[in-house]
Amino acid sequence: MNASPFLQVTDIEALYGQAILALRGVSLKVDEGAIVALLGANGAGKTTTLKAISNLLASERGALSRGSITWRGEATRHLDPADLVAKGIVQVLEGRHVFPQLTVEENLLTGGFLRRPSKRRLREDLDRIYNWFPRLKQRRKSRAGLTSGGEQQMVAIGRALMARPSMILLDEPSMGLAPQIVEEIFEIVAALNREEGVSFLLAEQNAATALRYATYGYVLEGGRVVAQGTAEKLNQLEVLQDAYLGAANGASGRRALPRASRYAQV
Ligand SMILES: Nc1ncnc2c1ncn2[C@@H]1O[C@H](COP(=O)(O)OP(=O)(O)OP(=O)(O)O)[C@@H](O)[C@H]1O
Ligand SMILES: [Mg+2]
Repeated sequence: MNASPFLQVTDIEALYGQAILALRGVSLKVDEGAIVALLGANGAGKTTTLKAISNLLASERGALSRGSITWRGEATRHLDPADLVAKGIVQVLEGRHVFPQLTVEENLLTGGFLRRPSKRRLREDLDRIYNWFPRLKQRRKSRAGLTSGGEQQMVAIGRALMARPSMILLDEPSMGLAPQIVEEIFEIVAALNREEGVSFLLAEQNAATALRYATYGYVLEGGRVVAQGTAEKLNQLEVLQDAYLGAANGASGRRALPRASRYAQV
């Protein structure tokens, strides 16, 4: 097997505005071809971890203050986000950022330009995305801002795929979407993984769904990894059996998020 994992995060600490310590020694790895879940409630540090990996913290006045990240054995510290995209890591930001005034197709095209492809190649890439997301083909001339939340999430993932990544950092794809659409999106993620070998690091509060697709997972709380293991093992954790880890902060009277010590059995 590979000597070094595809993506290796070692003991990282992240600060915002030189004062707020958002990550406190997070380590994780993603092997080539894997789907790994990064679980945790609101504010646990999932987005910060993904942004640390794709070197987007600086745009939030954040920075890594300790630790290291390597991608295929190479330290990423000095690469800018565009270099990382060129090397195969693409992040799909939380909250499905589409350009609302552009059409679905124009949005997808913005994801393809970095490689300076020929027109023919762009066309092929678009067809490939439409093949994965037939709904987007139907909606290709619609303004992205007028499409449904699920379609916007598909646009965001499709745009990432235009860069032909080998790994996608996917931040809360299920957020605010109906269960049926979430299922549809996760099925496409699974198919991309199976058929094209795309690896995923999947940040989710929706632990139950994420663990049906991931083979391995990490649970973050207060900027630390408080549990990790195979999906099967994490599924047995009582504390993860509520669908949403964010239940503690959320509405709907779900069970409160327990203390880190509750994870000790993993
Ligand atoms: N731009 C920022 N400036 C200052 N603090 C931030 C910033 N972004 C996040 N934080 C803080 O860092 C911590 C981790 O936040 P992060 O967004 O990584 O959590 P998360 O797990 O993605 O949460 P959610 O599920 O709500 O998206 C939180 O305490 C949050 O308030
Ligand atoms: Mg987040």
